[in-house]
Amino acid sequence: MNSESELPKQTVVSLAARKGTARVPALTAYDYPMARLLDEAGVPMLLVGDSLGMVVLGHPDTTLVTMEDMIHHTRAVANARPRALIGADLPYRTYDTPEQAVANARRLLDAGAEYVKAEGGVEILPQIEAILAAGIPFCGHLGMLPQHVVEEGGKYRIKGRDEEGRSRLVRDALKLEAAGVFACVLELVTPPVAQEITTQCRRMLTIGIGSGEGCDGQILVTPDLVGSFPWFTPRFVTPRARTGDAMRQAVTEWMGAVNAA
Ligand code: KIV
Repeated sequence: MNSESELPKQTVVSLAARKGTARVPALTAYDYPMARLLDEAGVPMLLVGDSLGMVVLGHPDTTLVTMEDMIHHTRAVANARPRALIGADLPYRTYDTPEQAVANARRLLDAGAEYVKAEGGVEILPQIEAILAAGIPFCGHLGMLPQHVVEEGGKYRIKGRDEEGRSRLVRDALKLEAAGVFACVLELVTPPVAQEITTQCRRMLTIGIGSGEGCDGQILVTPDLVGSFPWFTPRFVTPRARTGDAMRQAVTEWMGAVNAA
C-alpha cells in the first residue's frame, strides 16, 4: 500500500539531507484519517496549515483561525503517529512578540507538532530567532502571505515580479537561512526568483506552492489535490482525484436505496 514503505520516521535532519538530492513532497493534514492516509502513501512532511480556516472551518480566509483551532487539529493529526514530520502553523496575530511566539510555538509542540511555521521575513526575525533559541524547529513562509491578504486588499498576488520584490525575497530567505530555519515555503513567487532562492540557500529547503518547479519540494493544500473542496481550486493546481464528486454520488446512491426499500 505504501509508495515508500521503508520510509523511517522523518526528522528535520533527514528532510534537510534531501537538499540537492531528492525532492520533498509535502501536504497539509487536518485530522486523523487524513494524516493516516497521507502517511500510508509515504508523504514525508505534513503541515497542519491554517488553511484549515477555509477548507475545514468555512471561513473566508485564514485570519479567523485561533490557537485553539490549531491545537485541536494538530492533536488529531499527531494521533495518527505518522512517520512524516508534523508541522503546525502559528495563526494570525499569535506571534506579535518573541515571548508570545515562543509560548504559542510550545503549545503547538505540546499538541504533537515537530516544527512550527509562521509567515514573514525580516519583520518577524526576532520571533523566529526566539523560537529557534528555544530549540523549536522552524519553517518560514515567504512570498504571498495569506494571513496578510485582507490588509493587501483581498487579492492573492504573485510576488517577486519587480527588482525590489525580487531582492526583498532573496534577502529575507538568506536571513532566515542564516538564523537556522530548516525549510521555507515559497508561495506564489515567480519561478525564476524561487529558483534563485533555492540555489542561493545552500542548507534551507525551499518548498514551493504555485512557484514553479525549481524548488527543493512542493506543498499543496490536500483538499485542492484530491478535490474534496470542489468549490474553489487555485489556478496552479490540477486535482488528481474528485473525492467531492465521489461522495455526492455515494450519498445519492445510498439515498436512492433507502427511498426504494
Ligand atoms: O496554511 C497552509 O496550508 C499553508 C500552505 C499553503 C503552505 O500555509
